Amino acid sequence: MNVRVFDSPEDVALAAADRFVDRAQSAIAARGRFSVALSGGTTPRLVNQSLATEKFRYIVDWSRVYIFFGDERRVPPDHPESNFRMARETFLSTLPIPGKNIYPIPTDGDPAANARRYEKKLREFFGEVEWPRFDLVFLGLGEDAHTASLFPETEALHEIKAWVVANWVEKLGSWRITLTAPAINHAANILFLITGSSKAKALSAVLNGPRNAFELPAQMIQPVDGSLEWLVDKDSAELL
Ligand code: 6PG
Repeated sequence: MNVRVFDSPEDVALAAADRFVDRAQSAIAARGRFSVALSGGTTPRLVNQSLATEKFRYIVDWSRVYIFFGDERRVPPDHPESNFRMARETFLSTLPIPGKNIYPIPTDGDPAANARRYEKKLREFFGEVEWPRFDLVFLGLGEDAHTASLFPETEALHEIKAWVVANWVEKLGSWRITLTAPAINHAANILFLITGSSKAKALSAVLNGPRNAFELPAQMIQPVDGSLEWLVDKDSAELL
């Protein structure tokens, strides 16, 4: 496993921002555009804020950056729990990314219909291919070893055809919309960003424990022909 351990969450964020810029510059030079799926929760806040700083903001052609989301909660886009709102507040609103390049996951209708709508948007962007090939997918890790909204013992873990699904999460008592594991696994680069001692048990189980993807969904993330890196801080790596 390509695991890099950093002293602090701030160091993880800087390394992740470096990776983002490096992948963006390569993709734009090679294909004229860079597609990235952002993860939600709190960990990415520092990365997003880093990307909006002077150090990074002027070295990417943001007009060629296309922003997608790995998952979304069933809340309006201005809700405090919205992954889109977090991304907008921490960096999308401060960078010259054209609005047409930002693809929030719809949350206003029937969950399954929202998933179909999002998949349609992805298919319009990626074209007639079996799977989307994001240039970069950011992922986090929950204390229960979920990633995106692929939670333990949920239906979405069984999906082998759809790119995006609605996933009922009993423990949350709510619907989530999420990229499926195969859709993530066809990305060119996958980057886990994990910080905090609360994630240590899950990270150790995912990386060093027996394979048990139904209970440890982050184990489902295995790129088909791309890169997988884990950028973690010392606290989350304490059991490795
Ligand atoms: C979400 C995320 C989810 C997140 C983990 C870790 O919508 O919550 O996509 O997969 O990455 O739950 O969240 P934290 O970064 O808040 O610990």
